[in-house]
This record gives sequence, structure tokens and C-alpha cells, in this order.
Amino acid sequence: MRKEWWHGKVAYQIYPKSFSDSNGDGIGDLKGIMEKLDYLKELGIDLVWISPVYLSPCADQGYDIADYYKIDPVFGTMEDMDRLIEEAKKRGIGIVMDLVVNHCSDEHEWFRKACADPEGEYGKYFYFEKKKDGELPCNWRSYFGGSVWEPVPNSDWYYLHVFHKKQPDLNWENPMVRERIYDMMNWWLDKGLAGFRIDAIINIKKPDQFRNYPPDREDGLCDMGTVLADASGIGEFLREMRDKTFRPHKAFSVGEVFNAKDGELADFAGEDGYFSSIFDFRQTVEGKSVDGWYGARTPTPEDYKRCCFESQREMEGIGLYSNIIENHDEPRGVSYYLPQEARNDKGKKLLAALYFLLKGLPFIYQGQELGMENMVFDSIEQVDDISSQEEYQVCMNAGLSKKEAMDVISRYSRDNARTPFQWSGEENAGFTSGKPWLNVNPNYKEINLKRQRKEPDSVFEFYKKLICLRKTSTYQETLVYGRTEPVLEEEPGIMAYFRVGQGQRILVAGNFGQEAKRIRIAGMDWEKCQVLLSNDKVVDGNGDKLVLQGLQVVVVEG
Ligand code: GLC
Ligand code: CA
Repeated sequence: MRKEWWHGKVAYQIYPKSFSDSNGDGIGDLKGIMEKLDYLKELGIDLVWISPVYLSPCADQGYDIADYYKIDPVFGTMEDMDRLIEEAKKRGIGIVMDLVVNHCSDEHEWFRKACADPEGEYGKYFYFEKKKDGELPCNWRSYFGGSVWEPVPNSDWYYLHVFHKKQPDLNWENPMVRERIYDMMNWWLDKGLAGFRIDAIINIKKPDQFRNYPPDREDGLCDMGTVLADASGIGEFLREMRDKTFRPHKAFSVGEVFNAKDGELADFAGEDGYFSSIFDFRQTVEGKSVDGWYGARTPTPEDYKRCCFESQREMEGIGLYSNIIENHDEPRGVSYYLPQEARNDKGKKLLAALYFLLKGLPFIYQGQELGMENMVFDSIEQVDDISSQEEYQVCMNAGLSKKEAMDVISRYSRDNARTPFQWSGEENAGFTSGKPWLNVNPNYKEINLKRQRKEPDSVFEFYKKLICLRKTSTYQETLVYGRTEPVLEEEPGIMAYFRVGQGQRILVAGNFGQEAKRIRIAGMDWEKCQVLLSNDKVVDGNGDKLVLQGLQVVVVEG
């Protein structure tokens, strides 16, 4: 594998609205991030992806951009952004911005002009169609519910939006649109960004025709996943984007790519792929249902293990996945993947080590390093997120009681990850001196940074050790480039793998169960191994046998 500057890095995602508020308006901002750069440095972070801070009416929390060249005033100014990039650089941290170009906001100038004249120049920046024989062009369901077609007020035109109606899709078939996007990207990259995280990118290529697909719910509509499986030719756009933007800047790029088609992995994330890396979402989509959240099944530790290993196998020899246990669209990883009885500090460290040491680029989502947990929402009024609102409606339509519906929402809501960062046990968890835009998780008195800093055995200190381990020169080569070789795959409750490098191997072995378990790994000699990390004081090995205590994880060389 050709070496790249970003391979050995550790990345961190900031959800700016909920990270740190510098001026007491209850909303996190760029100055707030700036104040925490030393914190990120202390943790050992090299790359920081910041979710959108561009000018936006915030229908989908900034993923609806009204002007790509402006910073939204709630977050600060362009000067703040320039300073942030500069201050981060001084600390050896690269800033990665969110690139949201499948769609823009319906308040973007392009869309306004387009609506005024759908057949004019700007009309071609989007998808405008009329009904035929009283029918919409097709029955596709937007990700946030309802038809993808929305009427243009006072006209007989409809425009396409695969996400919210305030997020009209940009027409990538129009070369002018692509040029303007690349210009904008280069303008940002010239400011010294380390790169971009590319939002929802698989949606930019639609099937050749707007046609109906077999409905998969009673609404008569069809899921976008099915529709996109029918689209081909996205590579032409992505190759062009890479050559005109990322390549000349040697920028890092990570794609939000769900279900790349079989055999396409190298195209997306290989040495000469469209992107540096793509996120591994296999475990996040495991158990999901076309019926919506209420039909979903929570993955078990066995599912989790299988998903991780499948992804590791398929990517071997191709490139590096970006590994996560959560992000701003997912529930908190510790609340989702750990069985109820394992949701304690020991279990959180177990999950941390198991995912973090997989081959790939590890991403930590803000608060994950403290073991922040899901929120409990009692009523839909407490939830801000538009997709949760929609899924609540889906639950109600399916006949669930309010209580049952709220259980579903509490489990999957994107707001679980969007509650403010828990800096301390002080009011509002130290996030703001004002009223936070979204309620703080009431567990902030127990789970917060200030407290964990004082405890050598905290989840936070464990994350620091993991990051440190990955950067230790003796192990770095193996932890970054070494093959992943799963062991004891059939052993229920156990997830274990070797990372195999040049003349070195590192074993990561964890027990998801509560009971101690004796495992045997042929060829191991536990007395000769060097323990690099564990979440338990004792590592009880003897010959080729090891007793893993309930929820114990060990990392050893040997
Ligand atoms: C991506 C983002 C998500 C957003 C959507 C539409 O999936 O991660 O937060 O709602 O794209 O931009
Ligand atoms: Ca603020």
C-alpha cells in the first residue's frame, strides 16, 4: 500500500452546535472550538472533522447550505474560521470540513433563481419536472419521509429532494454545477484545510429515468436505497472531483458512502480511489428495516463482531476504512452495541479497544471519549431532529402507542448524539452559560470530562492510552498497516483478532459476557507476551490459555 500522510492519524468529529458555546447563546460556535484545541491536542487528535458551519437556515442542522462561502453568524465569522484553521495547524491538527453538495438549501441563491424560472439557466442546476397524466414523475421516498417531489409554489413545476424539502438536489449532470462546486472546494482548500468529509455523496447519481419502483410501504413509495442500486456512472463525477480538487491539494477525503456496490470498493477507497477513505457503516446498518426504525433489530455482540470482520476482510489489500462506533446521525455506540448489563466503564473500554485497534483510520465522535450515553426522551417535543420527527409519525401510523414510539425514538434518535458535550458537573455540563439549544443529558454529573481527568481509570484516560499506543513508534507500523486476522470467531461473546505486521503481532481480545471465560489461542505463550493495555488489573494467562474476565479486553504483543 502506498503510504499517505494521513494513514497514522487519529480523527475526531465535532458537532459544532453542541461542542462548546463561547458567548452564552446556548449554541456551540467556532470560538468555542478554538478554546478547546488544547484539549484535542492533549487527547492526541490530528484531524478534526467539523460538521457544517456554513450559512444555513438549519432545517437539517446546517446540512442545508444557503451560501458555501459564508459562515453562519451563530457559529461566528470567516475570520474565526481562518483563525481556527491557523491555530489548529500550530498544534499539528488539520481541519476537515463537511462538504454537502448533493443538495443545497432552498434558500440558496441558485435555487431562488431557479424557482423564478425553472426553464432558465439556474433551473438546470436542479431537477424540475411536471406531472404527467396527473402523476408525479416517480414514486421515490425521501430519506426524511414523503415523496421526493415538492411543488414549486404558484406553478405547476415540482423539484426533487431526496432529503428534506428544504434540501433541493443539485443536478450533477450539469457540468456548470460541477465546476462551481469544484471552484468552491478549491477556495476552501486554498485556505489550508486538511480536507473534506463528503456528505451523502452516493445520491449525486440518479438512475437514467425517473420511473416508479415497486412500493415497499403502504405509502406507495420506494426506498432510495433500491432506487440508487439502479444508478450507474457515479465514478465519472467522483474521478473528476478528485482530479480537480483533492489531488492537487494532497487533501484528505472521507466519503459518507453507504452500500458501495460489490467490487466497487477499490474504486472508492483504493490507492487511486475517488476518496482517501470511506466510513465503515456495516454495523450501523445491520438490523435496519425498510419499515423504519420501529422495525429495526438491535445488533448483538455477535452481529457486531461479524460486521467488523467482514469489513476488515473486504478492505484488506485495498485501502483503509474510517472506523466509527457513532456519529451525529447515530445513537451513542456504548448504548447501542453494548448489551444493557455491559453499559458501564469497563464495557465502554472494551468496545473502545475493539473498534479502535481495527485496521483503518479511527474516528472519535465528540463525547465518545467520555463514554457519553443515549438520552432518554419522554415525549417527541423534546426531540429536535427532523428524521426523529418523521420516524415518530411512522411509528404512530403503524399503530404503536406513544410510549412504544418514544422507546423507538429514544433508541435511534440522532439527537442522542447531539446533546451538549459534558465538560463538567457544573450547570449545563459547562457547555454554555445560557440555555442550551438541546437539553443536556441528565447524567452529566456522573459522566463529564472534569471528573474523568482526575480518575486514572476513567474512560477518557483509557482513550488517551489507546491513542498513545497507536502512535508509539514500536507499534505504529503494525497498528496502521498490519493485516487483521480474526481468531476464535465462532466463540460466542468473544471478539479477538491479531494485527500482523513485519515480524510483529498484536492481539486484541475482548469478552462481551459477564462471566469469566477461558480462551485458548494456539501458538500463544502468555507468559512471554507483553501486555500493552487492559481494562482489568489482572491479565491471567498461562501457556496458551487466558482467562478473560467479564467485559475484559486485553491488548498484547506476542
Ligand atoms: C448525511 C448527514 C446527515 C444529513 C444528510 C443530509 O447523512 O450526515 O446529518 O441529514 O446527510 O445532508
Ligand atoms: Ca454561541
